[in-house]
This record gives sequence, C-alpha cells and structure tokens, in this order.
Amino acid sequence: MSVNKIAVLTSGGDAPGMNACIRAVFLAAQSQGIDVIGYQHGFNGLLTQDYVELQHKDIRNLIQRGGTVLYSARCEKFMHEQHRAIAAHHLNDAGVDGLVVIGGNGSFQGAELLQQLWDKPIVGVPGTIDNDIAGTDYTIGYHTAIQTAVESIDKVRDTADAFERIFIVDVMGRDAGFIALNSAIAGGADHVILPETFDSAATELVRILDKLDQRRKNGANSSHIIIITEQLWPGGLNVLCDSLQSETGVETRSLTLGHVQRGGSPVWQDRILASKLGTYAVDMINRNERSCMAGIQHRYPASVPLANTRENRKALNEYSLDMLEKITLLG
Ligand code: F6P
Repeated sequence: MSVNKIAVLTSGGDAPGMNACIRAVFLAAQSQGIDVIGYQHGFNGLLTQDYVELQHKDIRNLIQRGGTVLYSARCEKFMHEQHRAIAAHHLNDAGVDGLVVIGGNGSFQGAELLQQLWDKPIVGVPGTIDNDIAGTDYTIGYHTAIQTAVESIDKVRDTADAFERIFIVDVMGRDAGFIALNSAIAGGADHVILPETFDSAATELVRILDKLDQRRKNGANSSHIIIITEQLWPGGLNVLCDSLQSETGVETRSLTLGHVQRGGSPVWQDRILASKLGTYAVDMINRNERSCMAGIQHRYPASVPLANTRENRKALNEYSLDMLEKITLLG
C-alpha cells in the first residue's frame, strides 16, 4: 500500500501536547513525502469535510503551545453508523490513505467503529490528561496536568499553613486517580482520596480522621492538604468540608482546580511523548496497521490493538500508594 496523504484530528478533552503531536505527525510524514491534512473539531470535521491542508508555517512554534490548533470536540453523531459511513466516504473523497486520531477512550471507540467501515489504517494516539488508557504507560497531557496541580497545591499550602486549616483540593481524572495520586505525592499532600480505593463516604471519613489524629499525635504540621479525584464524594465537596470541620473543629476549605489542568504549555515529558507517538503513528500507517494505538511502554513506542486499550482498568502504581500512606503520617 502506498501512502500519499495522512489525515490527523484531535478529539475529546484537549490535552497539553496535542499540538506537539500534530507537529510530529506532520514532520514525520513530510520527511517521507507524505502530505497531511488536519480535520477540525474532532470527528465533526469528518462529517462536514472541514479540513485544512497543513503547511510548514502551520506547525512553526507549535511544540510549546497548549490546546489544539485543530480544535477538539465530542461528537454525538459519531455514535450512529449512518454518520460514520459519511465520514468514511469523505476520507475517500479527500484521498486520505491513513487517519491519526489523537484523543482518549471515547475517541478510540469512535476510531474503532469507523475502522469497521473504512478500509485504510486508523491509528489512535493517547491524548488525555487522565492517563486512563491501558496499554500505554503515559498519555499526552498527563505530566503537564500534574505540574499544574502541584503548582496550585504549593500555593494553597501557604494559605492553609497561615490559618492552620484543612484544604481539600479537587483534581480531574474522571474515573481514574492518576492525577490525584501523583499530584498528592509531588505536592507533599497529607491524604489522597481515589476512585480506585474509595469504598463509602463513611469509611473514607474514618480513614481521614484517623490520619489527622495520628498526624496531630506525631506533632505534624497543623495544616492539612487532602487531594480528591473529581466527582467522587457523595453529595459534593461541601458535604466533605462540613463533615471534616464539624468532626475536627478545624476550619476546612475546598478548591476545585477544574479545566486549568487542561491548559498551559506542555512540560518536556509531554512534548517528547507527543513527538515519539506522532512519529510512530505515521510508521504504523505505513505498515498498514489498523485499529491500533501508538502507545509508550518502558520508554519505547509500541503498537497496541485499540480493543485492548479499554479492556482492563489501568492500575495505579502499588508502590506509590503504599509509600504515600507511610510518608503522610508526619510532615
Ligand atoms: O477526559 C479529560 C477530562 O478533562 C476529565 O478529566 C474531565 O472529567 C472531563 O474531561 C471534563 O470534560 P468537559 O471538558 O467536557 O467538562
């Protein structure tokens, strides 16, 4: 199969480093004489034939830019086969020989379904701050999101210390605790509440109170930072704040970091990851690999069937979990 033109799109929650990946796809393709078009607004662009022919000027100064120059979206219509058939037809009309989809789980599902209707290679590249994709050690945007969370935790620590308060910091991650666990470690937090270990509000509250009690007995800091994954506490963060304040008598405040974690210039880890995976995705298209993801395993790119990327819940690092328990009793 000869590849003359590749299409690339970004889909789902944007992640810092998506631009670096678009750049890598373009540069890797161009080095082999392959043209690249960029579909805009995720899969929506495929439905409306909304694409741009990428030129060198489009990727200049792109490696450091957050967001995505191709725009992103979640595409409801793509759930319906008739719309995916239109997308396949449009790809053929545009003379595309391979498609790179940069996105998360939902986008990979769309890519897999489209592959059933289109007879040319579709390759997924994991781009999401959540790091919740199996088969790849990391996803593009994850390291930057942690960096952003840690910078905020550092700042909140100052005011928490000044008032000897408890602060609850809510971070993104959807159903996965990767951002929470690692920003808790890197931010020197005192407790973390994770979807992977959460049982019920009652048992978690006992855990937190035990921890705070032990910290007090150990003469630890009189302010406490607790990190929690978004949407986890039944009834919301205010309920947790009220419970902690009434049980401990310590003023408690909460802070939701939200979408700032998706923004900003990608840190070097995400730039390198995006560059490797974008380049490898082009290799995979040249090898005619279908319905696969370009992932990273032990620092090297690896091809993983898209079906395997959502098979199991990706596990948190056990050592990190144990370590955090040990090192938060003092401090
Ligand atoms: O998947 C990335 C993510 O930022 C999640 O962490 C978060 O739950 C979700 O997207 C937010 O989505 P939206 O931008 O549609 O509110």
